[in-house]
Amino acid sequence: MPYDSHKIQHEPETACTTSAELGLLRFMTCGSVDDGKSTFIGRLLWDSKLVLDDQLTSLESESKRVGTQQGDIDYALLVDGLQAEREQGITIDVAYRFFSTGKRKFVVADTPGHEQYTRNMATGASTVDLAVLMIDARKGVLTQTKRHSFILSLLGVKHIVLAINKMDLVDYSEEQFDSIQFEYASFRASLEFENVEAIPISALHGDNLLNRSANMPWYEGPTIMSYLETVNIKQDVTARPFRMPVQWVNRPHLDFRGFSGTIVSGAVLPGDSVVVPSSGKTSTVERIVTFDGDVERGVAGQAVTVTLTDEIDVSRGEVLSDPRARPDFADQFEAKLIWMHEEPLFPGRHYLLKMGFQTRTAQVSALKYKVNINTLEHLATKTLELNEVGICNFSLDHPVSFDAYQDNRETGSFILIDRYTNGTIAAGMIDFALRRAHNIHWQSVDIHKAARAKLKGQKPFILWFTGLSGAGKSSIANLVEKKLHSLGHHTYLLDGDNVRHGLNRDLGFTDADRVENIRRVAETAKLMVDAGLIVLVSFISPFRSERQMARTMVEDNEFLEVFIDTPLEVCERRDVKGLYKKARAGEVKNFTGIDSPYERPEHAEVIIDGSKDTAEQAALTIFDELDRKRLLSSD
Ligand code: ADX
Repeated sequence: MPYDSHKIQHEPETACTTSAELGLLRFMTCGSVDDGKSTFIGRLLWDSKLVLDDQLTSLESESKRVGTQQGDIDYALLVDGLQAEREQGITIDVAYRFFSTGKRKFVVADTPGHEQYTRNMATGASTVDLAVLMIDARKGVLTQTKRHSFILSLLGVKHIVLAINKMDLVDYSEEQFDSIQFEYASFRASLEFENVEAIPISALHGDNLLNRSANMPWYEGPTIMSYLETVNIKQDVTARPFRMPVQWVNRPHLDFRGFSGTIVSGAVLPGDSVVVPSSGKTSTVERIVTFDGDVERGVAGQAVTVTLTDEIDVSRGEVLSDPRARPDFADQFEAKLIWMHEEPLFPGRHYLLKMGFQTRTAQVSALKYKVNINTLEHLATKTLELNEVGICNFSLDHPVSFDAYQDNRETGSFILIDRYTNGTIAAGMIDFALRRAHNIHWQSVDIHKAARAKLKGQKPFILWFTGLSGAGKSSIANLVEKKLHSLGHHTYLLDGDNVRHGLNRDLGFTDADRVENIRRVAETAKLMVDAGLIVLVSFISPFRSERQMARTMVEDNEFLEVFIDTPLEVCERRDVKGLYKKARAGEVKNFTGIDSPYERPEHAEVIIDGSKDTAEQAALTIFDELDRKRLLSSD
């Protein structure tokens, strides 16, 4: 998954490039601190003699000083030591530790802390093939175990080791082991794991980690290490269909035009046919150039530059693909979304969606349900809060090339980015393209906006009034409309209070409903502009994001934001509808300016001081701006 803050630590470069051939196993451990997660990894490294001499000496002295094992070696300190190291690199969500035994190479993703667990776990899980799920033998399957399992399943982890730990504290009881295994089996039925291997261990004493435990003669399965060394994870990404997202078009001189990027799945040979999904055009691979010269075969994980035999259009972001197994190319799809931000998801709001090198404007067109990640129940909802998981339909401004996440983690996942802060706010896994995207086309019409506007002898545009309740928006908009009308213009005034009686009757005043309120009004205003009208929109429209969305729906010279800047105290003193009084008394909830935010415009074309200017003066200021922009002349 293309997370911003991904950094790989401790991992030699060769490890990721040819992981399939080396049989590299990427895994992670899940469980809370007291499940023995740190002790488990520390002990595994220790027993495998993977700890360096200097680390060993310091571990012995640290154990005596701050250890929790009465002076004996505290293996957890080994991992906590790594944690300190990691904390210096503040932006890192997940640390990757590389180690190898005679049989296999490993990468352990270590995900820190309880807070933001979903985000951290998801970041780790999106890169691993297997997860060791720690269970305290005394406690059995906890809510947390279920939560972790669900996230692992969501992120496509197919192999689970159920490490039933602290067996020493339950007298190495076979019954206890069996009952936990049984309980987990009934729960996992609804998740998409390929296999689950339960292993009874004591991380502290080393039972069944590397060596078979003499304390549990009844257990006949593998030890943790022998299982990890031999498990077949069928991770051969080179056997999957060829995909190469183009990072840049390499054109150093006229005689060379290559497409550079990293092959994320499959392999490619000179002479192979490739397709560009957006145009459906195919060509043949001529050369595969790497840093060390041309190669006969490019495989997943390799960074290459591919040249083609034909001059076809390929730009950054395209996914060069195997024409026999093409990715989807669509602007609507269903996806699972993990929300990672304090501010909730608002369906209808425009976010940036990034998939590989493709960036689009996207909105959630339907939030079908969220999943209670503790019980797996499906719940109806209007938003997603931090760490929640939802199933959503997405609608994009332009199509993207993608695969279903279950077929390809690289080309099936995306992140959402906030357009103002540029922060990552969600991670998504695509389920499938929505067929409706293929079946609804733009109908071309002969009478268009310019023709309609010409007949009316005017330029269509939107005058968007924003400001607090009681700021004076409606009075000013009303006066401006009257003046426009008397000058012979064709107008329409969309007013919050009125539209909320009809089209938006189903909406209240939560943030999510306000986002939807403005989305619908912006769409309506856009249609009216298309009909050739001058549209006056008078809504509180408290969020910058939606006002910006409305602005981008029409052409540059067709949108004027008019900020009626009346201080809250003044609006409250006027209290025309008596709503401020009710809001202060707690009888009206989510009232703008009181317990619901108002984001002041930053680039309004017109600002009216509503505490000083009369409606008449305000209308004159607005007309001055319309004249200056020549919006009222018909030429
Ligand atoms: S918006 O925030 O979604 O743009 P809109 O302009 O449609 O709001 O509606 C605002 C009008 O609804 C106010 O002028 C006021 O008369 C009324 N109203 C009722 N409850 C609220 C509330 N909680 N917050 C703001 N306005 C409210």
